[in-house]
Amino acid sequence: MTEAILQRRGGDALPFAPVPSLSAQFQREASPEPARTTTPATRAAAAPADTTILEARGLHTHYGSSHILHGIDFAIRKGEAVGLMGRNGMGKTTLIRSMLGLVRPSDGTVRVRGEDMTRAPTHRIARLGIAYVPEGRGIFPNLTVRENLVMAARAGVDGRREWTYERVLETFPRLAERLGNGGGQLSGGEQQMLTIGRALMTNPDLLILDEATEGLAPLIVREIWRVIRTIRDSGIATVVVDKNHAAVTALTDRSVILVKGHIVYDGASETLRHNSELIQQHLGV
Ligand SMILES: Nc1ncnc2c1ncn2[C@@H]1O[C@H](COP(=O)(O)OP(=O)(O)O)[C@@H](O)[C@H]1O
Ligand SMILES: [Mg+2]
Repeated sequence: MTEAILQRRGGDALPFAPVPSLSAQFQREASPEPARTTTPATRAAAAPADTTILEARGLHTHYGSSHILHGIDFAIRKGEAVGLMGRNGMGKTTLIRSMLGLVRPSDGTVRVRGEDMTRAPTHRIARLGIAYVPEGRGIFPNLTVRENLVMAARAGVDGRREWTYERVLETFPRLAERLGNGGGQLSGGEQQMLTIGRALMTNPDLLILDEATEGLAPLIVREIWRVIRTIRDSGIATVVVDKNHAAVTALTDRSVILVKGHIVYDGASETLRHNSELIQQHLGV
């Protein structure tokens, strides 16, 4: 249904120049090309290579014969916080995995700090200062909390070691109480904290969090949002995927909404926050 709307609007808009009175997000839907010249995403994409950390251009991804991503442009700059939203199955995780070399895009380019990294192995991309907290959790269940953290430690791209073992434990006091416990003995929330703690130990410039609060108790969820805010305030760029659009738009500068592998909104989180129609249409349950 959404695709039909997009196509119809796109068809209507094509022969005309962009109409200035249209809202930015309507223009984005009506005709992606003109809107791109005005969204923050474009400013990020057009910014000098040294400020754009991660950038996808025209990304297409298939799983077998299923065409999942349909020409995605996505960019995130140093220190920026971006929310990536959309209902289940819309392609959020596939976009992240395609940018990180975990899934092979069928077309398009991925650049990290201006350098072509399309189809580069994930470990090379990670070495360029990008950390990923995947859906589910990525800890070693047979290692203790201490071992999980210490094993992940490394300096950032520019040699920074701001996120030390001590600082991670200050940020996650719960982990400090469980240092000798095996990762597998932790609660779901503690495992998620450990996963984020491990990511911070790599001193990333960009942290990508995919559904970090999924399935966790409300108290832990609040704790995780607090930590994400701390991370953002420390200057690490963040991509946050989460169903809680109120929390995401409150936390981020910019929001991107995916519908069936197309971007239907890329603009200020503050604007989206007050557009209940758009939220209902693309994110409502
Ligand atoms: N490994 C896979 N093989 C085949 N199809 C997949 C695979 N992973 C995801 N998909 C499909 O791709 C689409 C996008 O999935 P995904 O990127 O996980 O969406 P989201 O993260 O937005 O929930 C869905 O239709 C999903 O069923
Ligand atoms: Mg997902």
